[in-house]
Amino acid sequence: MTRRESKRKQPEREQKQMKEKYLIESEVFDKPTMLLLSEFIKNGVLRSVDYPIEKGKEANVFRATTPDGYAAVKIYRVETGNFQRMQDYINGDPRFTHISNDKRGIVHAWVSKEFRNLRLCQEAGVNVPRPIAFKNNVLVMQFLGEQGIPDSTLQAVGSEEPERHCDQLLEMVGKLWKAGFVHADVSEFNVLMHGQPAEPYLIDVGQGVLRRHQKAEEFLRRDVTNVLHYFAKYGVKREGALEKILAMGKNGQKEKADAD
Ligand SMILES: Nc1ncnc2c1ncn2[C@@H]1O[C@H](COP(=O)(O)OP(=O)(O)OP(=O)(O)O)[C@@H](O)[C@H]1O
Ligand SMILES: [Mg+2]
Repeated sequence: MTRRESKRKQPEREQKQMKEKYLIESEVFDKPTMLLLSEFIKNGVLRSVDYPIEKGKEANVFRATTPDGYAAVKIYRVETGNFQRMQDYINGDPRFTHISNDKRGIVHAWVSKEFRNLRLCQEAGVNVPRPIAFKNNVLVMQFLGEQGIPDSTLQAVGSEEPERHCDQLLEMVGKLWKAGFVHADVSEFNVLMHGQPAEPYLIDVGQGVLRRHQKAEEFLRRDVTNVLHYFAKYGVKREGALEKILAMGKNGQKEKADAD
């Protein structure tokens, strides 16, 4: 490549990067979100929002600093989310009967659902990020990471103890079912490997539904299948895993989540 060419390309690339950066910022940090973040800072929930960890389909996750250490802040984009998907998981949930049907209303209901779902998972004794606070389109939760560096997904790092990790994940899905809840999007992409030795943590619980949801059993089946399918590549087999979990549900408490 000649010098002239490389000189010409450089600004183009920079411009593209700037454009992308601007796109993320303008999508996420609209005025109401900026005001909300400064409210979190004023109230002492956060000290600063540090850097983006990941851009997901509906939200961007940032590392933030709090007076007690780090937190993860999940900011839902109000303009470019998948509202139809959200609505499908909110409808049929008895906890959310009165929500406004505009984009903002749906996102706010979703964030409150994700927060309550995190609390429910935590109360069921399942590894999830501890919920800290939420308002409107912003959720603050425990930061999963080591010395300020975010943990990786199971998909990215794989498992060094596939037998144990497979059993742990099935046990987590089972505990949730017993507590009256299904995550409904369990996969290697929604598991972070945290700590030393690494333990699986479930994340991204917004779509989770109560066991009495009409599709709950279908979601459970899919969650279990995803876990088994992932660990099958390590040669791990767990016959009858779904049946065991379904049986756990029968003996479980009657929809603890209902009382919420
Ligand atoms: N508590 C946390 N601590 C550290 N990193 C996190 C935390 N929560 C989420 N992340 C990071 O952000 C990414 C996206 O999070 P999450 O899956 O909750 O968002 P999402 O927008 O629903 O994503 P997608 O729609 O792509 O599944 C995760 O893969 C993980 O890398
Ligand atoms: Mg996800």
